Amino acid sequence: MAILLQNIQSLLQVREDFVKKISGIDMKSLPIVKNAYLLVEDDIIVDYGKMEDLNVTIVDKTIDCSGKIVLPAWCDSHTHIVYAGNREQEFVDRINGLTYEEIANRGGGILNSAKQLQETSEDDLYEQSVKRVKEVMKLGTGAIEIKSGYGLTLDAELKMLRVIKRIKKNFPIKVKATFLGAHALPKEFKNDKSSYIDLIINEMMPQIAKEELAQYVDVFCEKGYFSVEDTDRILTASKEYNLTPKIHVNQFNAIGGVQIGIKHKALSVDHLEILGDGDLKSLSQSETMPVALPSCSYFLGIPYTPARQIIDSGLPLALATDYNPGSTPSGNMNFVLSTACIKMKMTPEEAINAATINGAYAMGIENQYGSITKGKKANLIITEKIPSYSYLPYAFGSNNIDQVIINGVFI
Ligand code: NIG
Ligand code: FE
Repeated sequence: MAILLQNIQSLLQVREDFVKKISGIDMKSLPIVKNAYLLVEDDIIVDYGKMEDLNVTIVDKTIDCSGKIVLPAWCDSHTHIVYAGNREQEFVDRINGLTYEEIANRGGGILNSAKQLQETSEDDLYEQSVKRVKEVMKLGTGAIEIKSGYGLTLDAELKMLRVIKRIKKNFPIKVKATFLGAHALPKEFKNDKSSYIDLIINEMMPQIAKEELAQYVDVFCEKGYFSVEDTDRILTASKEYNLTPKIHVNQFNAIGGVQIGIKHKALSVDHLEILGDGDLKSLSQSETMPVALPSCSYFLGIPYTPARQIIDSGLPLALATDYNPGSTPSGNMNFVLSTACIKMKMTPEEAINAATINGAYAMGIENQYGSITKGKKANLIITEKIPSYSYLPYAFGSNNIDQVIINGVFI
């Protein structure tokens, strides 16, 4: 099946060469072809260029994109989209004055979601999660990382990861799975964290590896959750199972998570609302991608990741949603872009680089996703007729997407 998109007002993020990630000042440029065409064959981008150079004879479908912008679909490198139930009562509790921490301390938070998930059947969990997956595909997300971490028992973690595997199999969206057994300490292990870590290492990881349920491993490295030493232990053990780290660090406190992630060659360190002394320097000596999650800051009312400091020091930055029931009940990458521009002072060019090629890098899929490059997957957003690409983050809260193509399929 050959599809031709023609008369495209602007084709964005056109990279002739396969770039891995975009850093520092380079994030300010976004390569564009104006008045362009794009040719897709099956699931692959096979050609693009200026309309005047178009030289195609027969295609199966032609789409007129006059006045519209075409860009790579969003690469959302950090989500917890598989979960059971919701936590709107905690949302109301926070409005009435409780903090996220206070709610967690009285058994709410992650443990609340874990309880709901443990009591939910695998089929029901799948149905609840699929609803959200369909929603984010319509909003332009073409590749997504999904974490476990609301199971917290062997069976429930496996249940989550099997649901992720089913999503991967049944939808065109590219899925990467991350094992986050170290998301919170279950009540039964309240006074014995070390035994829970034993369970993660000796029982969960081997079974997950055996069933090939995850490519990545995550730890919530934070005061009151898992310490730097705990994280070190888990990441050391994960090597045996070829699980690459992508970890939660510096959400509320900078306790050394960045350094321990880098020590274990983490693909990404995510959150970074708080930066510690030396974090930028450590990152600059690594290949680890920093990832910001601005909708989480928005929803919890916590500081935004200091994107300017990060980018101005020459580092790359990726943007992701963190879609989860507690801190970010939204998987809308368009809102993430707007919030990054409005609250973190990222330029539209930086935000688009962060949400496409850098997001792909943070999932280890930059060879196939995240830019308009011949040979990459046909994961595309076709916007409504809009005046310019800056209009996308500017018109926050509006849906400016006309059509989405994922793996060559219209969504
Ligand atoms: O990334 N910080 C840890 N995990 C999630 C929130 C978990 C929850 O509240 O359910 C996050 O924000
Ligand atoms: Fe998260």
